[in-house]
Amino acid sequence: MLQLDKRLDDWTAVRRDFPCTDARVFLNTGTLGPVATPVMDRYLAAMRQWNAAGPGASDVYVGWRNRVETARAKLAAALGCRAESLSFFANVTDAINVALVGLRLPAGARIITTDEEHGALVGPLTQLALSGARIDVVPFGAGGPDLVARLADAMDQAPTTLLALSHMSCETGAVFDARALADEAHRRGVLVMLDGAQAAGQMPMALDAWGVDLYPFNGHKWMGAPTGSAGLYIAPAAAERVALTYVGDGVGWSTGYPAAWTETRPTDGRRFEYGTRNWPCWVAWGDVVDYRAALPGDPHERQRQLAHTLRQALAAMPGVVVRSPDPVGGIVTIEVDGFSGEALYQALLARGVVGRRVRRPHLDGIRLSVAYFNNLEDLESAQAALAQLQALR
Ligand SMILES: Cc1ncc(COP(=O)(O)O)c(C=O)c1O
Repeated sequence: MLQLDKRLDDWTAVRRDFPCTDARVFLNTGTLGPVATPVMDRYLAAMRQWNAAGPGASDVYVGWRNRVETARAKLAAALGCRAESLSFFANVTDAINVALVGLRLPAGARIITTDEEHGALVGPLTQLALSGARIDVVPFGAGGPDLVARLADAMDQAPTTLLALSHMSCETGAVFDARALADEAHRRGVLVMLDGAQAAGQMPMALDAWGVDLYPFNGHKWMGAPTGSAGLYIAPAAAERVALTYVGDGVGWSTGYPAAWTETRPTDGRRFEYGTRNWPCWVAWGDVVDYRAALPGDPHERQRQLAHTLRQALAAMPGVVVRSPDPVGGIVTIEVDGFSGEALYQALLARGVVGRRVRRPHLDGIRLSVAYFNNLEDLESAQAALAQLQALR
């Protein structure tokens, strides 16, 4: 367990754990989030220890492999599920592929998705379409009950096998009630996979209670875990529906060489993990859970309040159109009259503000991601940079 000291009694001290806040106004946790220095120090010390011992020293690497189980249990508690329901991956795209391919969807299966999906989902869905799946797209819009209703209508139009969409739009931060959607889908015998890459770390998680079947998610964005941290949740009821696609030397099966195959953990998430991995990275994810639990307040609530404040301030600026609903998490997306998203991104970057461009047929702007380590001065700097840009026009 991390030793936390008295420095963590206010958010100003917390901010000092994030050196990326020194040089620039960092508003891009939605792409990759920084790791708090105490967690990073411990992670790097582990890597040095491993290296110094000789990476092939089994007392070292097996020890780290075993420590992953402690991290899995901590993460499961934070996400509201059982440890056996979680598998670790290096990125959420891997988790999405393993889930979608493992479902072994029947030929011609209909999948419903939205118009604001990341390439991590669009790519695998496109591959499924090339082998005969039918992909129908509904607008994500402002999320909420309207999106749940749109998806319910779409399910009623033709037999459907799967809903596969983001829980939170990476473009606007719009979100919806996962439980309500799972209920609508299950009433119709449809499976639900939500890409939680953005939601995890932006809002409280309750995976078992939500009832979704599959929930791939990221550690290396809003949760603040090292780059290379992602997971897949499979609900207990869906555990046997996902077949193995990639296999190797792992912990979930045994074989009578060369052809007899026995799955020793048929419903356990660890069956998807194999080969040599960066175990200390996932152990560090467990440290992140401890770090966040010791923060002076609720990180979700702090970033929501900061993002709400930013949204109000930007909405009051002439020529700025806010494209995010009032935030549940930390994302505020805007368009600015006379600027493409690319131009906005470049101009803000030149003024020391790091955001991320958003370009869709219906959206051409910039996404600002506000994390709990950001502060009001960051928001004022972003606002001032935008005001400068407008004055130059
Ligand atoms: C909604 C969503 N899904 C998937 C990804 C891809 O994440 P990874 O690089 O971990 O595969 C992102 C990254 O921005 C995302 O926003």
